[in-house]
Amino acid sequence: MNTSAHTRYCELRYPGKWPETDILGAVPGGQLRQLDKPNPACPHSFYVGDNFPILHLLKQQYAGKVDLIYIAPPFATGRHFASRDKEHAYSDELLDHHYLEFLRRRLYLLRELLSQQGSIYVHIDKKIGHYVKLLMDEVFGYENFLNDITRIKCNPKNFERQAFGNYSDMILFYAKKRGQHIWQACREPLCEDDLQRLFPKIHPLHGRYTTHPLHAPGETLQGDTGQPWRGLMPPKGRHWRYARQVLDELQAQGLIEWSSTGNPRKMVFAKDHKGTKIQDVWTFKDKGAAYASYPTQKNQDLLLRIIQHSSTPGSLVLDAFAGSGSTLLAAHALGRHFMGMDESEHALKVVRQNFKQAGVACNFFRYQV
Ligand SMILES: C[S@@+](CC[C@H](N)C(=O)[O-])C[C@H]1O[C@@H](n2cnc3c(N)ncnc32)[C@H](O)[C@@H]1O
Repeated sequence: MNTSAHTRYCELRYPGKWPETDILGAVPGGQLRQLDKPNPACPHSFYVGDNFPILHLLKQQYAGKVDLIYIAPPFATGRHFASRDKEHAYSDELLDHHYLEFLRRRLYLLRELLSQQGSIYVHIDKKIGHYVKLLMDEVFGYENFLNDITRIKCNPKNFERQAFGNYSDMILFYAKKRGQHIWQACREPLCEDDLQRLFPKIHPLHGRYTTHPLHAPGETLQGDTGQPWRGLMPPKGRHWRYARQVLDELQAQGLIEWSSTGNPRKMVFAKDHKGTKIQDVWTFKDKGAAYASYPTQKNQDLLLRIIQHSSTPGSLVLDAFAGSGSTLLAAHALGRHFMGMDESEHALKVVRQNFKQAGVACNFFRYQV
């Protein structure tokens, strides 16, 4: 555990908690066997089996090499999940501290694989998620916490229960080393409400716009921006925002709107808006079970957003609870390399089908004792 001055030193206590050294020192009894003809030119790999020994084996080759990890592990629901065709996919049977320790051991191994510029997103529900936050603080360090993203996962629910509806889950986002992590900020286009509110006027050629004052606080005593323009002085205590030559150019381009009282303002168009910074509430609803290729398949656009922000082309992206392979497909689509893992035979079948459909080549391995 990191006990540096910036860490909130607290941790979950429960029976059967292994020390970190025992987790990292465990020796897997088996080995990896390639399933098909090797394709050395292909950078992608998928491993079938329990991810604990698999991560141990891969640690030797990939420690410090993975730029991005996304996982949506089982959520300790006590449920069994089946496909649309009623085929068993996986069982989510570990509960309470058994579940927490299962996840904690894997988090320690995942941390070993992350590069210095790497980051990890753990997608979890709100029943167990707050315990997982404490595990993440323990393994990755409170100081490396970046976001707890609320994800709107479905339409509002009308269940008969004496509490508010739950239509969100959470994604915990940590850096291996906060400040050194890859961050490729993207912006979101304005939503229709904001467009109408911020750009209430309509220009016949350029669409929605608003106007901004042409003057700013502070008087220019001698410079150009304190001089009269078109016979008009800037209001008292203010100066022109632009040199008068620029004001002339704006006027010539038709970018200045004059009010009925003779007040000039600059026209600002919605089409030139850079978009807004993405916040920590995201709406990416999952496909209903009847449409998904795997029972708990995650939204593809959600994964694209994460991969775009926290990796670069050529980065190695890892999903150790890969299910349908949705993370891996998103990584491939963005030119990243991927490593996927899942112990479910049904997941393997779905992954193979999905990769084939998308024309994605991959080296498949099985962990065997
Ligand atoms: C919530 S699902 C992941 C869904 C996936 N993100 C998607 O979009 O399709 C969790 C997955 O973890 C797998 N899993 C559970 N325990 C595992 C383990 N010890 N090793 C490898 N995979 C495991 C399950 O088989 C299941 O496919």
